[in-house]
Amino acid sequence: MIDERPMQFTLTDTALQQIEADAAIGFVYEGGDDCTAATDWNELTAGLARELAESGEFRAKHQSTSLVHRPAGMRAGRLLLVGCGTHAKASTVRLREAASAGWRRLRTAGVRSLATALPDGMARDDALMAVVEGIAAADYEPDVHKTEDKQASSLERVIIACPGDAQAALDRATAVAQGQLRARELVNEPGNLLPPPELAARTAALAAEAGLECEVLDESQIEELRMGALLGVARASVEPPVLIVLRYRPDGSGSDAKAHLGLVGKAVTFDTGGISLKPAADMHLMKHDMAGGAAMIGTMLALASIRPELPVTAVIPSVENMPGGAAQRPGDVVTSRSGKTVEVLNTDAEGRLILADALTYAKEQGCTHLVDAATLTGAVVVALGTDYTGVFSNNDAWSEQLLAAAGKAGERMWPMPLGEEYTKLLESPIADMANIGPRWGGACTAAAFLENFVGDTPWAHLDIAGTAWYEKKMPHAPVGPSGAGVPTLVQLALAMSH
Ligand code: BES
Ligand code: MN
Ligand code: ZN
Repeated sequence: MIDERPMQFTLTDTALQQIEADAAIGFVYEGGDDCTAATDWNELTAGLARELAESGEFRAKHQSTSLVHRPAGMRAGRLLLVGCGTHAKASTVRLREAASAGWRRLRTAGVRSLATALPDGMARDDALMAVVEGIAAADYEPDVHKTEDKQASSLERVIIACPGDAQAALDRATAVAQGQLRARELVNEPGNLLPPPELAARTAALAAEAGLECEVLDESQIEELRMGALLGVARASVEPPVLIVLRYRPDGSGSDAKAHLGLVGKAVTFDTGGISLKPAADMHLMKHDMAGGAAMIGTMLALASIRPELPVTAVIPSVENMPGGAAQRPGDVVTSRSGKTVEVLNTDAEGRLILADALTYAKEQGCTHLVDAATLTGAVVVALGTDYTGVFSNNDAWSEQLLAAAGKAGERMWPMPLGEEYTKLLESPIADMANIGPRWGGACTAAAFLENFVGDTPWAHLDIAGTAWYEKKMPHAPVGPSGAGVPTLVQLALAMSH
């Protein structure tokens, strides 16, 4: 079950060297032999960063670390120097990762209180967000089902030297961090422990705690809604499908706001591929095929705490994609809620089928702007690798707003093409469209498929297949879920509510 973290973040006017703590993190910018402390502790520690650079021990390369015990002139017992890379490349993405790498280094070193200071190089609130979210994210461990040798965190308190009143920015950052953590906890759960009904139950419990409205539509209600595309995918599983709907509404009665954000997240709790069965190697990773849905749940939890002036509705279709006697066959034709028919040429292209019905439903709920997040295609990983989320959109202004939110929130996202070049590749001789195109451009044809269900509503599709899961241990994160999407989507909702 969910692990309640006692970690507390507090802000202080006190300079870093005066803060009493088990350990301090000092951010350092790279500069050849002349590294510079990104904060004012450097002078008091007699140019420690410079000395270490000159000796060749520490050059402040991004995410590199060097630990000093009983640092002169500081009240902290230890000082961890954390490299931020060059000042010229300073960004919220890189600072977030540097902060995470710092806490990963100290996480199992018995540190209960941690002090740090914000580096220069960016606006104060942006730096605060990156440092807070970076440290909080780095505290995550996926070992919830170990009965021995759990890597428990000792962290209780983080004290940040931060001038002026930044409490609102701190509250936003901790809400995002908490939402992202909840998303990762859900994504980490294996298929047997988190089938669709259990995902719904867990989401309902989290929503109740956060004061969010949660409606769970069961199989018979989904049938009444004639969501044939979703139901086709769910057919062979003994686990029934659910459609989870989360609603956040702003407090003020005067919210005659015209914009209404709709967040649609793919939640395939396990993707075997169905009759178009996946190869065995690495199939276990398909437990994270619900990361898009989890990102939307985490985002909604954060929004419930931040309370922006904008109605937001999340629609999360959840199914298990299994082979079996009742399974959908390649060549089957299904009728989506929109009325459009689909020839299912490959049962492993299931995410787009459940999203088609969920996007239609989100529009019916009154959403004026849509974003979906989905671990949709291996092809996007071929195209962009594992650092960038692919962004597809039918509306330039909307995708620019989303990419700006990603930049501010500190997530890597990259625009990808969409258009009739791809749409025509989905032509079917028997139905309105097929669910797959030819071999090449698979991330783009998947997005083009979804576009058929959004009409003119501004919509952006985030293909997070490469970014939702760390397959290798990183300086900033263990193997496991990343929580990709949560910071950006919260930032987008905030930007829309201004
Ligand atoms: N869930 C997968 C995509 C995926 C791949 C997610 C790797 C995370 C990591 C999706 O349902 C899928 O199977 N896509 C197919 C589509 C193909 C059949 C057109 C794929 O990418 O191979
Ligand atoms: Mn699949
Ligand atoms: Zn899938």
